[in-house]
Amino acid sequence: MAEAHVLVFPCPAQGHINSMLPFAAALLDAGVFVTFLHTDHNLRRASFVAGSPRLRFLSVPDGLPDDHPRSLGDMMELERSLREVGAVRYRALLASLSSAGAGRPSQDGSDGVDGDRSFPPVTCVVADGLLTWAIDAAEELGVPALAFRTSSACSFLAYQTVPELVELRELPFPEGGDLDEPVRGVPGMESFLRRRDLPSVCRRRGGTGGVGLDPILHVFSKATAHSREVRALVFNTTASLEGAALAHIAPRMRNVFAVGPLHAMSSPPAPAPAPASSLWTEDDGCLAWLDGQADRSVVYVSLGSLAVITHDQFTEFLSGLAAAGYPFLWVLRPDMVAASKDQHATPQEAIGVVGEDKARVVAWAPQRDVLRHRAVGCFLTHAGWNSTLEAAVEGVPMVCWPFFGDQLINSRNVGAVWGTGLDMKDVCDRAVVERMVREAMESAAIRSSAQELARVVRRDVSDGGSSAREFERLVRFIKEITM
Ligand code: UDX
Repeated sequence: MAEAHVLVFPCPAQGHINSMLPFAAALLDAGVFVTFLHTDHNLRRASFVAGSPRLRFLSVPDGLPDDHPRSLGDMMELERSLREVGAVRYRALLASLSSAGAGRPSQDGSDGVDGDRSFPPVTCVVADGLLTWAIDAAEELGVPALAFRTSSACSFLAYQTVPELVELRELPFPEGGDLDEPVRGVPGMESFLRRRDLPSVCRRRGGTGGVGLDPILHVFSKATAHSREVRALVFNTTASLEGAALAHIAPRMRNVFAVGPLHAMSSPPAPAPAPASSLWTEDDGCLAWLDGQADRSVVYVSLGSLAVITHDQFTEFLSGLAAAGYPFLWVLRPDMVAASKDQHATPQEAIGVVGEDKARVVAWAPQRDVLRHRAVGCFLTHAGWNSTLEAAVEGVPMVCWPFFGDQLINSRNVGAVWGTGLDMKDVCDRAVVERMVREAMESAAIRSSAQELARVVRRDVSDGGSSAREFERLVRFIKEITM
């Protein structure tokens, strides 16, 4: 039998890398070789440390100039450019890496990488489910390919249900309609899902000749439909968190594996240290600052890798946090607060007013270590799927201010289903921030739900747990299709 060697290919964004790199680490622990494919830009930007002789990082161009911002507003441009420019190099690279006896790509630069004789040929591709062309190209080359979704199963189910929602006239939303109206038609979620909880793109109308849906919704629902044809679909989730959604997804797919939360599966004492994954430089100094704070006294604020807030929203958050009175650690990426004409102070200056002992600002934090720290009492978050999983594993209560995509449905789960936090969706107001932060810090019921969920989720990824068993089944599946 050929040695299993998986090429793992995430979308080139932090949230996708953070989900798929722990997946790579878990494959390494299972004895599988992994080639992790970045874009040239990301590989240059960050020093990814492999930490295992069976892992290597290679890259393909994304086709954009180096000084391009690659921010949220440019995501469609990045997607198109990668599909048009990167796809050609990806195909050539994969052909070379998977050819029989080709332990390594050529040295002449024709496929753009230096070789490494210690790696066997690539036997399987696991690509981000949004990179449908990467999955199709692999199959065309005779390399079995699987889809990996980095967002929640609930959001996948919502995208999967778009045709039914259109048929039921739930989509598009009526102009000016009430966003608190319940949504019929998403199985298993009818009791709690409102219009405002559906992926944010459902709120927009547009497109030509269609039924009035935003073109981006078509892209997502097409990628979701594509997953039906794929040999297997992998979710970074667990049945304890999203069992109902998984049960409704599985019958429409060829194979479904729920193997998360992966970052908890590959954390110490796993044999190989998890590979480093940040595109930004982590400010470890905030851990020393946390060391000086009392147990569960600090509010950790991070709105993920892509969200941009207005200066007014920044002011509301800051005022609400200051009024709540707890010390806070706030991740403010340099590109995070949109400039405004009438802004009087930079975010850093404004926070300075609160005082060093009460507030710490960093551009990027070692988030998993922060959430694990005894001083953190609650997490004010955008409810990105990685952040949601990371908080769930550590049992940290959440206050959610979702921005886009799956975050809206994740935060609904947090507030209305798991009871592990509060959902302040759509209302960015200092009084609401103050009230919800206080409640998340002080409510015994929320803390106990968060701790109970952590216990269940940790059990899922430990030996014999549902995700651990699913992962073993997935490794067997990968080995069988590559025989
Ligand atoms: C978005 C979506 O919301 C997410 O659901 C989707 O799967 C990917 O794109 P993003 O804004 O990146 O995600 O948020 P999230 O999924 O939470 O990922 C952010 C990651 O960055 C987390 O793993 C978090 O630990 C990490 N992070 C964030 C840091 O390491 N340091 C920080 O300071 C902030």
